[in-house]
Amino acid sequence: MAHSYTNRKLTAAYPTDLKAWQALQEHHREAMQGKSLHELFAADKDRAGKYSIESGDLLLDYSKHHLDDKTCELLTQLASEADVPAAIEAMFAGEKINATEDRSVLHVALRAKISDAVALDTPGVREVWEVLAQMEDYVDAVHAGSIHGHTGKRLVDIVNIGIGGSDLGPVMASTALRPYWRDGLRFHSVSNIDGTQLADLKAELDPATTLFVICSKTFTTLETMSNANAARQWIVQALGDGAVESHFAAASTNHEAMDDFGIGAERRFRFWDWVGGRYSIWSAVGLSLALVTGMDTFRGLLAGGRVMDQHFRQAPMDANMPVTLALLGVWTNNFCGAQTQAILPYDNRLERFPAYLQQLQMESSGKSVRMDGKPVSCDTGMVIWGESGSNAQHSFYQLLHQGTRLVPVDFLLPSRSSGDTQVQHSLAVANCLAQSEALMEGDHPSNTIVFEKLTPEALGQLIALYEHKVFVEGVIWGIDSFDQWGVELGKKLVDGIKKSSNPSTRFLLSRL
Ligand code: F6P
Repeated sequence: MAHSYTNRKLTAAYPTDLKAWQALQEHHREAMQGKSLHELFAADKDRAGKYSIESGDLLLDYSKHHLDDKTCELLTQLASEADVPAAIEAMFAGEKINATEDRSVLHVALRAKISDAVALDTPGVREVWEVLAQMEDYVDAVHAGSIHGHTGKRLVDIVNIGIGGSDLGPVMASTALRPYWRDGLRFHSVSNIDGTQLADLKAELDPATTLFVICSKTFTTLETMSNANAARQWIVQALGDGAVESHFAAASTNHEAMDDFGIGAERRFRFWDWVGGRYSIWSAVGLSLALVTGMDTFRGLLAGGRVMDQHFRQAPMDANMPVTLALLGVWTNNFCGAQTQAILPYDNRLERFPAYLQQLQMESSGKSVRMDGKPVSCDTGMVIWGESGSNAQHSFYQLLHQGTRLVPVDFLLPSRSSGDTQVQHSLAVANCLAQSEALMEGDHPSNTIVFEKLTPEALGQLIALYEHKVFVEGVIWGIDSFDQWGVELGKKLVDGIKKSSNPSTRFLLSRL
């Protein structure tokens, strides 16, 4: 009973054997293949309003896809034949749906209210609100100056040290929420193992006013530990051994390692194995974001995530925004033949959002083995890429418009500027609409996700929308969206690489 969904998934049919899948193939071949978007719009004047969903602050307009009522009906049937409703409930119930790592998947608990009673019996879940309170005390004390640097100076430069999910979330969200930065505080990040980012920051920052936040679920990742050790060396050289305590905080599941590094108990912020790295911005991994923007902003982000969670859990499949986005992904990928998808935000503060979604989607859906250990029977995750829309118009849009590849697009379009630049922002809005119209006339599909303004709440909804979209796609394909064994292998191989007997590696090593 406790693992009913996961057990079912381990013996589930291939998606390609499902009735709805086969009906969709036929429907694509017989009814849709030859139809242009222009024809579809001409045939149904209400199309735009009809193929759109509103939830919270977001509107998803998916009318510019090669689909009609029959397509939508069959896609919804596919979701139900693939057991999507049960999968959603299994996640919220704390079932170990990350079967290959034998873990629950509970990033939704990080943004829930305790009264939502999301998987409260899962070890660690009841600690979520304690850690939030601990973060709040720490953030407020840093802002008030009662927690300060070793020499008594105010800590004003917050440097996140992490990589992958322990970097992309804080970097993307702090860039997106720049107008919410507290006066005098600045956000920086160090992720790359080559040391250049820290070298540049050392030239620019004063150690006496710098606070490093080390984020690492494992606290063993080579890149992060190399950078953390180099940062510690810099602090110790400038301010002495005793300064480490004042200039470092950390977020991890590995208490001993944080302790060994010299992080004091009140500056160690824990999270749990049921938080995947690429789903961790909602946990203490968001500490650097909370430090630079304030805890109210961070809580706004969490509240936005919760709005999307409630919609995801309650809305029927055919009016469910993440489910619909996932079904559109499956439709364009598995039936229309798209191999890549572009994410194009029209607020420059979302410039790191495509990179964030790259990890979220490609680490989650880059799988060719199913949960049951058998090879998949269809393509899985698409290649995700993108760039701030306005800039991208003048670099790669030509290929979107007139190239030979089918590249479905997600436009992210706020109606208002995230700053005081509404006049210029209106030009960005016009640009986005013009591009989506031109793509449509050229028969290229797109989604447009509209929201009023890039607030913490809207950002939270956007992130959660894509998290759930990725999950639903994985459920349909029968893969585990929450492991990353390929990346783990790369992490292991690096240790012995200098002694590798691989002839290609030996050749390159001889040159290096
Ligand atoms: O890149 C692989 C990965 O395992 C990601 O999933 C994770 O976000 C990243 O490494 C960093 O891992 P950690 O937070 O343990 O340092």
